[in-house]
Amino acid sequence: MRTVGLKVPATTANIGPGFDCLGMALDVFNEFTVEEVESGLKISGCAKEYDCEDNLFYRAMVYAFKKMNYDCKGYNINFKCDIPVCRGLGSSASLIVGGIAAAQILAGGKCRNEKILKWGTEIEGHPDNIAPAVFGGLCISGMNDGNVFASRVNVADFFEIMVLIPDFELPTSLARSVLPEKILFTDAVFNISRSLMLIESMKNGDFRMLKTSIADKMHQPYRGKLIPGYENIAGELNKSPEHCFFISGAGPSIIILRDKKASRNTNLYCEAIPANWKCRCVAICEAGFSITDMGW
Ligand code: HSE
Repeated sequence: MRTVGLKVPATTANIGPGFDCLGMALDVFNEFTVEEVESGLKISGCAKEYDCEDNLFYRAMVYAFKKMNYDCKGYNINFKCDIPVCRGLGSSASLIVGGIAAAQILAGGKCRNEKILKWGTEIEGHPDNIAPAVFGGLCISGMNDGNVFASRVNVADFFEIMVLIPDFELPTSLARSVLPEKILFTDAVFNISRSLMLIESMKNGDFRMLKTSIADKMHQPYRGKLIPGYENIAGELNKSPEHCFFISGAGPSIIILRDKKASRNTNLYCEAIPANWKCRCVAICEAGFSITDMGW
């Protein structure tokens, strides 16, 4: 029977002002192996409650099989996951992209990135985590009449990345439910100008411009209130010209970017971070998902 192995990077979405349209792949990975068998479904390497047909990876496989008119068989799926769950680091996107890519290979075809982007966005509802999980790097993405577009931006090597991971989950549905239905015209202009400047600063390696442009009025003011400790961390980091930060995706993780030219002052923000949160240094993952095994 056929087997396939896949490795999918974590992603951080929004990146301040780019709500639902900016995302970046990080070098933290979920790995999946899928073996096609006669019948049945067995999912290992995850909590027992996810060993069922409702598993997002499996649902993404079935979604793709239907699109390709491929008859679903039985599957043994194994997860080796390093992306924290429900922390705003693209763990759902990794399951969706992995599931669709596995289905494409098992159905006998090649991985088609445009289809993974489109079908993945149909499942997730927005493309900002899916695009970097597929293409890697920093991606601009959007939707247009049922189609999805994505474009990669080259990022200069001028900052270090630290992820602060709280010890609690924040479901995206809850984080989206606190957002207002309408925003002020002036706030929209604020975010558009920052998003455009942010892309320029990323390309040019201009940390001062990045710090100015990473501000947001669309989601962080509302979601920050769902993250105990956020205000303290924000207050501390706002004082430093060498650091900037944003809520990763829907939260609750927070990403800190530090100017590579900054002096080494490791105590600067440590005091504001709750002791039970994890801190992890990561880097941009330049590649999207990869196929690690294709046995027949
Ligand atoms: N752009 C999405 C949001 C990312 O902020 O809700 C989380 O899925």
